[in-house]
Amino acid sequence: MSAGAKKKAAAQAALDYVESGGVIGVGTGSTAECFIDCLAKVKGKIDGAVASSEASAARLRERGIALLDLNQTGALPLYVDGADEATRHLHLLKGGGGALTREKIIAEASETFVCIADDSKLVETLGAFPLPLEVIPMASGLVGRALAALGAQPELRAGFTTDNGNIILDARNLKIEDPAEMERRLNCIPGVVTVGLFALRGADVLLLGGDDGVKTLR
Ligand code: 5RP
Repeated sequence: MSAGAKKKAAAQAALDYVESGGVIGVGTGSTAECFIDCLAKVKGKIDGAVASSEASAARLRERGIALLDLNQTGALPLYVDGADEATRHLHLLKGGGGALTREKIIAEASETFVCIADDSKLVETLGAFPLPLEVIPMASGLVGRALAALGAQPELRAGFTTDNGNIILDARNLKIEDPAEMERRLNCIPGVVTVGLFALRGADVLLLGGDDGVKTLR
């Protein structure tokens, strides 16, 4: 089965978590796009969605799903999003699409975070995928040096500005033995807006599309 078909299967399975009358948090990326397409088929069931990026907002709008502001909705029952890497402990590495800050805000505001992915995303240890950090532009040098001191090779994501007007540094070869500790540590560097580690608030459910169907990890 192709990675695309596995993503679609995981996205379809996430519909089981959508309850009537709620507002759903929706993530960013190709797997989240599959979920938006699935959600469009049951859109009468929900009151609307909060999007983690302008790109997802546009796709939701195109499919006739009402967009809501997180400040109006309050806490959300459900957030569905993809990941670049995930562990059996439901710690995630995210931000390949650069939407990590809004993703982390919505994850924190949600009762249940369902992560959807194809099974190639399951890893023993996070960090083979370069870790994205959203950074205030004037702090790129400072944050870069702090990452280098931790043994990483930071790289500016060229030609990319986040929806919040900031830059992304992708940290290669960072040794992430304790994801929660690393998340805390990187969060403390002045100028870091968000780290793409989702360990302090990881997923509650991981739906992995594979050749034998969708596996659920809790
Ligand atoms: C965007 C993300 C995405 O969830 C992550 O990059 C996975 O993307 P895809 O579903 O395309 O593999 O964190 O910021």
